[in-house]
Amino acid sequence: MKRVRDTGRKKKKKRLAPRQIVFSRKWAMPNSNTFDIKPITSLLKKYVGPIKKAGGVIIDPFARNSCWGTLTNDLNESTTAQYHMEATEFLDKLVEEGKTKADIVLLDPPYSPRQISECYKQIGRSVSSTDTQNARLYKKCKDSLDKLLNPDGMAITFGWNSSGFGKTRGFEIVEILLVAHGGAHNDTIVTVEIKKRNH
Ligand SMILES: C[S@@+](CC[C@H](N)C(=O)[O-])C[C@H]1O[C@@H](n2cnc3c(N)ncnc32)[C@H](O)[C@@H]1O
Repeated sequence: MKRVRDTGRKKKKKRLAPRQIVFSRKWAMPNSNTFDIKPITSLLKKYVGPIKKAGGVIIDPFARNSCWGTLTNDLNESTTAQYHMEATEFLDKLVEEGKTKADIVLLDPPYSPRQISECYKQIGRSVSSTDTQNARLYKKCKDSLDKLLNPDGMAITFGWNSSGFGKTRGFEIVEILLVAHGGAHNDTIVTVEIKKRNH
């Protein structure tokens, strides 16, 4: 039998090479129904399509009339979403119930304090300065969605930055899609991340 010599040195942990991020930039007309923007529909078909077909759970807390989610919510009661709750309250309820585990989470909130304010005004709801703190809203939603997402699950975030769910929560970016809309419009930035199993 081969004897292993104890050198007293600790074995170095093997580091996996970081994943290559798929990066692309496409042009498309702006549309407030984000998921109807052509390159975004294609991205959703690629990642969400097969999971949905296989009966997976997809949470969309800001769904408007989109049908990509299997568990959908939107504050606005005139939308086709299944629930009409404030997003953080909707997600808190799912976490508390402890029955839902998602394969994919979609996060397409209003992109700025002004957009938040417009959404509230549209439904005749008064808006406080706390409501319009978009960073606070995103953090609360991400924390809850993280709790609801299975390891190896996918988070797809839409907005004006590529922060996504981030390394600290144990997520790794697999794809970034920039959709330019021309003129003075901001790009729509789509960040696709995987929740690492051993975080
Ligand atoms: C960017 S849109 C989502 C568009 C959708 N992904 C689509 O492709 O059609 C954001 C949606 O969030 C809703 N909303 C805004 N603030 C909300 C809140 N605090 N909780 C729940 N829904 C909210 C708005 O009514 C709006 O429909």
